Amino acid sequence: MGKIGELYQSADWKTEKHVPVIESPDVVKAGEMFAVTVTIGKEVAHPNTTEHHIQWIRVYYKAEGGKFPYAVANADFQAHGASTDGANAGPVYTDHTVTVRMKVSKPGTIFASSSCNIHGLWENARDVKLA
Ligand code: FE2
Repeated sequence: MGKIGELYQSADWKTEKHVPVIESPDVVKAGEMFAVTVTIGKEVAHPNTTEHHIQWIRVYYKAEGGKFPYAVANADFQAHGASTDGANAGPVYTDHTVTVRMKVSKPGTIFASSSCNIHGLWENARDVKLA
């Protein structure tokens, strides 16, 4: 029996267009809101077409020494040019990036996962330290 964790792929985001890139401060103050932006294809652009697109990004936080991750945000990207006129003929596209504001009380790790409709599941992580 397989495990879903084994299906998540990771790589260097500078050369692999599917890896979620997490941008956040290296150090934050406990209890103060900060912004976390997750982008797909920051260096190598990922397509955004009806046939090939990023479906969603999920953000989680796991405190240092904690056992469980906590879900922070979900972003679903649902507009990719589909229309009654055919693929890529629609009037609207969503971009596969999301910014979340959050605060933490302990240092830990931000995890991001994403899904490409034809290239599967991807992941990345970034540590957060407290001032
Ligand atoms: Fe893809």
